[in-house]
Amino acid sequence: MSTESSTYNIAVLAGDGIGPEVMNVTLSLLDATAKKHGFSLGYSEQPVGGAAIDDVGKALPQSTVDACEASDAILFGSVGGPKWESLPPAEQPERAALLPLRKHFGLFANLRPSVCYPTLTHASPVKESIIAGGFNVLCVRELTGGIYFGEPKSISEVDGEEMAIDTMVYRTSEIDRIARVAFTAAQGRGKKVTSIDKANVLQNGVLWRRTVEAVAKDFPDVELSHLYVDNAAMQLINRPKDFDVVLAPNLFGDILSDEMAMIAGSLGMLASASLGKAKGDGLYFGLFEPSGGSAPDIAGKGIANPIAQILSAAMMLRFALGEAAAAENLEAAVQKAIDDGFRTGDIYREGDAANKVGTEAMATAISERL
Ligand code: IPM
Ligand code: MG
Repeated sequence: MSTESSTYNIAVLAGDGIGPEVMNVTLSLLDATAKKHGFSLGYSEQPVGGAAIDDVGKALPQSTVDACEASDAILFGSVGGPKWESLPPAEQPERAALLPLRKHFGLFANLRPSVCYPTLTHASPVKESIIAGGFNVLCVRELTGGIYFGEPKSISEVDGEEMAIDTMVYRTSEIDRIARVAFTAAQGRGKKVTSIDKANVLQNGVLWRRTVEAVAKDFPDVELSHLYVDNAAMQLINRPKDFDVVLAPNLFGDILSDEMAMIAGSLGMLASASLGKAKGDGLYFGLFEPSGGSAPDIAGKGIANPIAQILSAAMMLRFALGEAAAAENLEAAVQKAIDDGFRTGDIYREGDAANKVGTEAMATAISERL
């Protein structure tokens, strides 16, 4: 049957821990959103991570990669857990599934919006005087280079003892393209980029800073500043509201985005998009996943916060499918559910005049506000 409306093909990789349960409610919400906005979504559910190791003996089966290749976007849950921690490092879910997926699809731009809603500032461990009114910082993290992937990388024996080597490598072109993502994002929001490096010690930092400064010339409307990563760790907690877009190399972005998540209140709220090169139509192929992990301690209990997964799906609608109105609708429904007092355990605080709910009830509250 042919229809006028678009049908998108999504590779769904729910993975381990809380992945499947938050994915489940997210797919229902996505369907409701799609229906309202006149398009439809087809899902190809594929094993990944520990679940795939158990099923077929590999964290990233070729059939999963093939399904991702045939899709318009990848919606990812989370991978890993205690069950697979004793495997050799190279076979563990994080290293054997997530990193190869990022590399295979050239997903060099990781966008992690750290949003602290004004009605949720009490969930943050940072004192009210610092975060009153909430904040919104976007971390733009380089995702396919730096010390995560540089060669040589080894553990070998030297002079009778073991020696580990990781190598931080960046080329101008890699810094240039991620910097352009950050400056372009800043143009659409607070028009400030803070670039993170360690230029007082690392050669990588020198090249990073020089390249970012060159890119800045093409964006005269955006204000650029630089911070050494150690100082940035302090300033983010001391004055989070002063930041707009934070641009960072892979490892520094990994660390600072967790810090920003905590300042915002809960990792359970934070979405992310890992994007490749822009396609001709202004859209991106990407992998959309919560910034947090598989949270094995609460998996299967129906209490996980599904919002990070839901907001990652909203980013997918916007960046990969070009369904911006649907994305805004979903994001607004999340905010409304929060404003109306719905709280999963991670964002509930004793004494809250709020409605403490589990995964399904939170999703229902959001669905009712679409
Ligand atoms: C993240 C995670 C991953 C990373 C791990 C699971 C490999 O911490 O997405 O931030 O280090 O990139
Ligand atoms: Mg991380």
